[in-house]
Amino acid sequence: MKTQILQPNKYNLRLCAEEIRGGGLVAFPTETVYGLGANALDEDAVKKIYIAKGRPSDNPLICHVADVEQIDRIAYVTPSALKIIRAFMPGPVTVVLRKKNVPSVVTGGLDTVGIRMPAHQCALDLIRECGVPICAPSANTSTKPSPTKAEHVLHDLDGKIRYILDGGQCGVGLESTIIDCENNLLLRKGGLEIEKIESVIGKLGFVSDSPVPLCPGMKYKHYSPDAEVILALPSLNMRDIIREFYDKSPQKTVIITRGGDYGDRNVFDVGRSVNEYAHMLFDAFRTLDEQGFERIICEGVPEAELGAALMNRLLKASGGKTI
Ligand code: TXA
Ligand code: MG
Repeated sequence: MKTQILQPNKYNLRLCAEEIRGGGLVAFPTETVYGLGANALDEDAVKKIYIAKGRPSDNPLICHVADVEQIDRIAYVTPSALKIIRAFMPGPVTVVLRKKNVPSVVTGGLDTVGIRMPAHQCALDLIRECGVPICAPSANTSTKPSPTKAEHVLHDLDGKIRYILDGGQCGVGLESTIIDCENNLLLRKGGLEIEKIESVIGKLGFVSDSPVPLCPGMKYKHYSPDAEVILALPSLNMRDIIREFYDKSPQKTVIITRGGDYGDRNVFDVGRSVNEYAHMLFDAFRTLDEQGFERIICEGVPEAELGAALMNRLLKASGGKTI
């Protein structure tokens, strides 16, 4: 199958909607990362997602909707979910609710469904044009960093899908925050700051407080480039520690930094703010792999606001290797 990157004009949106309604897959941009979409109500189409990604079938998919009526059709909305929907949708947040009429292949056999309304015009237009919820995981090969550009999707899925809608680089750059609204639990830190969500629905529990794995995706390795990732924990002398570690590294090494001065050592600059760092991280991982680096040292950031999700991704990518 030949894979084409398409600009999201009216004609191409119609073409992609036809592909999805016909049981095919289309990759599309959202404000977090690119998704690999299928008609959520078509079991055979959904199975193709797991095959294309190489994803374990017990790992459920998020259903993307364009309006509140679509949410009502696929789930029982709880009071806390309603508050999140009113305050933050469309936006980088997913609510997990008890499902109605959603095939179990979408939900990995669970009786709940993750639902998200992306804040990206192209995604909303595509969902409206299809007239059905679109279930989509991130459009990467399983365990690779999520794609934040159309070319990342092409790299991972070339020949496996017909169309990639190109919406440019994703604004947020990290996946959505996931809230279990049955139990008011945070399942995954992400693009919507937890402080903001708690200001609307009160204190949340965290998934690690739960004895059973509530978010099946959390048990798989994630977000990792081929290079070894080392996370430098934030401290006053973090950059001295990084310089020393770099100088002792026998591998081809690079530092991901927010404007640090590392002399003539290899660096990849991700801007100044935590938000710019989040926006650039997955692109940085992919670019540095292509450039043949074997070790990537990442500057850590304070765990407030988007920094909490960023540190979660950095820690996962490093497999817990910190300095
Ligand atoms: O920003 C995002 O959320 C992106 C874009 C494309 O929307 N999607 C995304 O999907 O990151 P994925 O499949 O890569 O990650 C979804 C996570 C997985 O860890 C999965 O286990 C969890 O959400 N999940 C989905 N449905 C769930 C459910 N019913 N209960 C608990 N966890 C669920
Ligand atoms: Mg993913």
